[in-house]
Amino acid sequence: MERPTPYYSYDGKLLRQTLDAAKEAIKSHPAVGQAHIHFAIKANNNPMVLKTIASAGLGADCVSGGEIRQALDAGFKACDIAYAGVGKTDAEIKMALEAGIGCFNVESVEELEIISEISAGMGLVAPVALRINPNVGAHTHANITTGLAENKFGINLEKVPEAVEKAKSLPGIKLKGMHFHIGSQILEMDDFKALCNRINELQEWFRRHGVKLETINVGGGLGIDYEHPHKHPVPDFNAYFGTFAKHLKLEAGQELHCELGRAIVGQCGSLITRCIYVKNGTFKKFVIVDAGMNDLIRPALYHAFHLIENVSNPDAEQCLYDVVGPICESSDCFAKGIYLPETRRGDIIAIRSAGAYGESMASTYNSRTLIESEFIL
Ligand code: LLP
Repeated sequence: MERPTPYYSYDGKLLRQTLDAAKEAIKSHPAVGQAHIHFAIKANNNPMVLKTIASAGLGADCVSGGEIRQALDAGFKACDIAYAGVGKTDAEIKMALEAGIGCFNVESVEELEIISEISAGMGLVAPVALRINPNVGAHTHANITTGLAENKFGINLEKVPEAVEKAKSLPGIKLKGMHFHIGSQILEMDDFKALCNRINELQEWFRRHGVKLETINVGGGLGIDYEHPHKHPVPDFNAYFGTFAKHLKLEAGQELHCELGRAIVGQCGSLITRCIYVKNGTFKKFVIVDAGMNDLIRPALYHAFHLIENVSNPDAEQCLYDVVGPICESSDCFAKGIYLPETRRGDIIAIRSAGAYGESMASTYNSRTLIESEFIL
């Protein structure tokens, strides 16, 4: 029986190829040592996707108690879970400690004190990395750059000495490492090079102050080719790990961690939708599809580009369309003024590169139900 539209379709084979390519790239750059990827669950929390990633041996980067629960259910080892976020609640901290997660990425001195109080109260010591705001910009959308001093994230550089002193003095804290994240959908390796240079300066400071760190976590952010998903289904992990191999100076015994999300899952997911009507407006033709901004919010929220294809009628003559959803908002628009093969009621439309921040950001706006997914092994 045909699956009702809309739905997310995941290509399991491409996901496994992507995971293999990432692991190969690490192996071929010995300078990054045994670099370890923690998959950023926020990019995609589909249970089949998570199981595939966990069984490839990656760790998990979580930002809520709910994500920690999903990671454990999918088979990620607790010791391979890092927990980040500026607003961890007491209940979430307690739950993470009980689960025995590998690291808390701590974003403020205030948070350090609370984690210490809770962990000491439980007779435990919390492993902690300080999330430092490196004040490094990234050439990406303003809504998804995070490493500038004016962002809410991380501990600003001038506060690092205070945070380190605090971490050393608190009974419930063990300082394990430094953590950074400069933004998302980054395609210019120079941005990661700038991060490396900043980390090297900080390493110098830590060395001078006699503080040994076990892990350097450089966050996520590697981008994908939204324009040409068929030509570039697997991101350039070699360029990414090559940049860290060349520019990051790890101390002996230090481990490199990163938290890729989009690069792992972005290209393996498509949103499959159906044309309900082709409406002839005064100046334009609208392809009205049965998926809406509640199913995939990226175009509405960030004016993000996704390649759209009519897979039912691929060889027909090209016509100019706006592709819109059924939601009562003008921003419920997937693309304006694009060429598609002539589209008819009932045609199947694929919205590509929707594996990251698609299903995980879906909502029930307009009282629509969350859509199903298929995972093609
Ligand atoms: N680590 C931290 C601390 C993060 O904040 C993020 C993403 C990641 C890792 C994973 O970044 P990635 O490798 O996926 O770039 N919803 C937006 C993206 C928001 C990214 C939030 N943080 C979008 O649809 O483009």
